[in-house]
Amino acid sequence: MRRLAAGVTVVTSRHGATVNGMTATAVCSVSAEPPLVLVVVNRSSASHGVIARGRAFALNFLGDDQAQIASYFAGRDGKTFEAAPHRIGATGCPLLEGCAAHLECVVQSQHDEATHTIFVGRVLLAQTSDAAPLAYCDGAFQSLAPISCR
Ligand SMILES: Cc1cc2nc3c(=O)[nH]c(=O)nc-3n(C[C@H](O)[C@H](O)[C@H](O)COP(=O)(O)O)c2cc1C
Repeated sequence: MRRLAAGVTVVTSRHGATVNGMTATAVCSVSAEPPLVLVVVNRSSASHGVIARGRAFALNFLGDDQAQIASYFAGRDGKTFEAAPHRIGATGCPLLEGCAAHLECVVQSQHDEATHTIFVGRVLLAQTSDAAPLAYCDGAFQSLAPISCR
C-alpha cells in the first residue's frame, strides 16, 4: 500500500467536550447522490470512540504546506488544536485553516472489519480552496505536479 499515492486528511471529531484529530489516508468517495464518503479507522485509536459516540466527523484535506500538521495529528497522546488554527464547524468538529477542502459529515453507518471500522459519512457541508493538496506515498509526504498527456 505504500506504493499507492493518497491524499492526506485530518479526520476531526467531537463527543461532548472531547475533541480529537487523526491523520488518515484511508478515505474514499462512496457516492455523489446522496453525497457519501468513507474513512477507515483503527479501533485502537482515540478517534474511533469519539466518532462512534459523537456520530460525526470532518475531513480536512490538507494542503501541501501542512505536512507538519499531518505529522502532529498522526501522534497519539496529548494532542490539542492550540497549534493548529481552526474554526468549529456545523457538527462541532474542528475545521483546520489552510486546507484544500473540508467535508462535514454525520455518520450514516459503520462496519467493523478485522482491526478497523469503516465509517460511512453523509456529507452535510463541503468547502474547497485553491490550496494544492498534500499526498503521501512511499512513506513520505509529497506534493503533486501536473503532467501533460499531449
Ligand atoms: C500518512 C498516515 C496515514 C494514516 N492513515 C490512517 C488511516 O487511514 N486510518 C487510521 O486508523 N490510522 C491512520 N494513520 C494512523 C493514525 O494517524 C494514528 O494512529 C493516530 O495516532 C491516531 O490518533 P488518535 O489515537 O488520537 O485517534 C495514518 C498515519 C499516517 C502518518
